[in-house]
Amino acid sequence: MNYNEIYTESIENPQAFWEQQAQQIEWFSKPSIILSKDKNDYPLWFEDGELNACYLAIDKHIQDGFGDNIALIYDSPVTQTIRKFTFSEVKSEVAKLAGGLQSLGLQKGDTTVIYMPMIPQALFAMLACARIGVTHSVVFGGFAPHELAIRIDDCKPKVILTASSGIEVERLIAYKPLVDEAIELAEHKPQNVVILNRKLGAKIPFKKYDIDYDALVYGSEEIPCVPVNATHPLYVLYTSGTTGKPKGIVRDTGGYVTALKFSMTHIYGVKPDEVFWAASDVGWVVGHSFITYGPLINRNATIVFEGKPIKTPDASTFWRIISEHKVSTMFTAPTAIRAIKKEDPNGDFIKQYDLTCLKTQFLAGERCDVATLEWYNEHIPVPAIDHWWQTESGWPMIANMMGVEYLPVKPGSAGKAVAGYDIRILGENGQELGPNEEGYVVIKLPLPPGTLLDLWKDNERFKSGYLNKFEGYYFSGDGGFKDEEDYIYITGRVDDVINVAGHRLSTAEMEEIVASHPSVAECAVVGANDDLKGQIPLAFVVIKSGIEMEHFQLEHEVVQLVREKIGAVASLRNVVIVQRLPKTRSGKILRKLLRSIADKTEFQIPSTIDDVAIIDEIQTDLEQYGFGKK
Ligand code: COA
Ligand code: AMP
Repeated sequence: MNYNEIYTESIENPQAFWEQQAQQIEWFSKPSIILSKDKNDYPLWFEDGELNACYLAIDKHIQDGFGDNIALIYDSPVTQTIRKFTFSEVKSEVAKLAGGLQSLGLQKGDTTVIYMPMIPQALFAMLACARIGVTHSVVFGGFAPHELAIRIDDCKPKVILTASSGIEVERLIAYKPLVDEAIELAEHKPQNVVILNRKLGAKIPFKKYDIDYDALVYGSEEIPCVPVNATHPLYVLYTSGTTGKPKGIVRDTGGYVTALKFSMTHIYGVKPDEVFWAASDVGWVVGHSFITYGPLINRNATIVFEGKPIKTPDASTFWRIISEHKVSTMFTAPTAIRAIKKEDPNGDFIKQYDLTCLKTQFLAGERCDVATLEWYNEHIPVPAIDHWWQTESGWPMIANMMGVEYLPVKPGSAGKAVAGYDIRILGENGQELGPNEEGYVVIKLPLPPGTLLDLWKDNERFKSGYLNKFEGYYFSGDGGFKDEEDYIYITGRVDDVINVAGHRLSTAEMEEIVASHPSVAECAVVGANDDLKGQIPLAFVVIKSGIEMEHFQLEHEVVQLVREKIGAVASLRNVVIVQRLPKTRSGKILRKLLRSIADKTEFQIPSTIDDVAIIDEIQTDLEQYGFGKK
């Protein structure tokens, strides 16, 4: 089938289409109900099927005779380690860890938090939970204790799995004190913390709830996989929303593994036994779908990379890994390519490696700018494919489906709708817009399998955030347009979510933190354009009357506050003191206007603005603090 045929089939007859795809998965009990609806009239896939994601990722391949094939390649330039694990080796460790977790009282229906750096044990922990039907919630290692505590309070883990440290370029980050602090901050107190001692010299303060990871694994028997229902939550993954509270995206099991198998074969075009590398982090959705479950379910060796595209040790790392491990398909964020391009503009490092193993380069996580795409194409002769998706979808929604048909690439577009996604562009009143008209990117229900099931214990927010804006459609939060040939162009978020170096962050959350500074009367945080990271947060602050404070002092304190509460990953470095914020006559802060002024892009003066004179004031303030020169 070509792209048009497969796409049309998936939209016209979703039940038959996904029933067929579900047959690519081994079920303990095959579903007889393919598509049903929950209490919100929202789709449920394969409701009565039974399966286990860990079984599909590991045990099945061993039973099929591939136990000695490589499942996982750990490449860590920061510790100068390369270690390979076969499917049998992964199984042995995962099945024992699962046994250990069971001995701590964990059972189907419980939750855990996993707070680990990019090491194989992060994947083992996820798989061990999946093995016994425990819902895991991985928290990105770059988040500070305050963020971890919010997630602990929301998903109430019985156990937290962590490691002694992560490494940021040359900086050792001790995780245990962060976990202890988060537990202190949280109202919910987990029963145990399972800690892997990496023996890299980080301090591991002892607490009564601590359990040593190695002792737990080696003291346990291997246990089998527990069958779970298709709609059983495999994981909860928190992502930024438009308020200070992150949203717990709930992922089912049956729909998800079906969608991942479909993605590996039909979108990424990867055959079993090839080496697949997604250079992301297990703390993000890419890490769940395409470092852990997707490649393993498709019997691909997955690479766990502990490093950065540059500085570990230099901009050659990506090419060294591709060539050394014979990576056939790679996935990274455009920001990583921009970082490499900055260090190695002529691609001198690229020429030093044999990259003939590489078939395709996928890019996602943020808009892929044309200059980055062109630079890649100039230096590496493989298709560079932008594709669009979200934590919520769990797998690509717009892409060039490389396993089906390689369509011509249009720079600036993420491609066409992936099979299963009926993507439309709607105007403010819900009317469908024509070619090249920019509007809201929405998806007509039912969403295909594998997409979000709900928000963890917050069905009201789920409905109001995604389903209520346009009845019968899922609202993505992104703006964009389609051209005459149905290529889709994503123009950016239409809400207060920003994208910093491929990391999704909430400006509303940053505003709450900035506003908590004792000298701040009110503030607005917006995402300003940045050549490397795509966007970076910029805080506009009004100081309380009667307080005199030097700009550099306030900036330093606000930056520290955000680092302390969210983590360094927020990358807030610039604070601009203003006399007042631009507002509408009803008192709403005009953030979009602030962004345009900061980016020096053209804008129309909003008709609702309270006082037009403020625009000049803000421009002067920005220049005074030299924003953009840092
Ligand atoms: N633990 C602790 N701190 C972390 C961290 C982690 N896991 N990840 C990032 N940080 C810290 C960094 O050390 C840095 O701290 P600093 O301000 O003290 O220097 C800060 O958070 C910002 O990190 P980062 O956004 O990674 O910026 P960078 O300047 O170190 O590197 C890039 C820039 C572009 C190389 C890097 O952002 C990158 O590789 N991006 C790709 C992202 C990606 O793959 N995203 C997944 C989406 S698919
Ligand atoms: P996350 O949930 O962290 O994966 O972030 C999802 C958001 O990142 C989307 O809603 C988009 O705003 C943005 N995004 C992801 N991929 C792309 C892409 N290929 N092009 C444009 N924006 C993207």
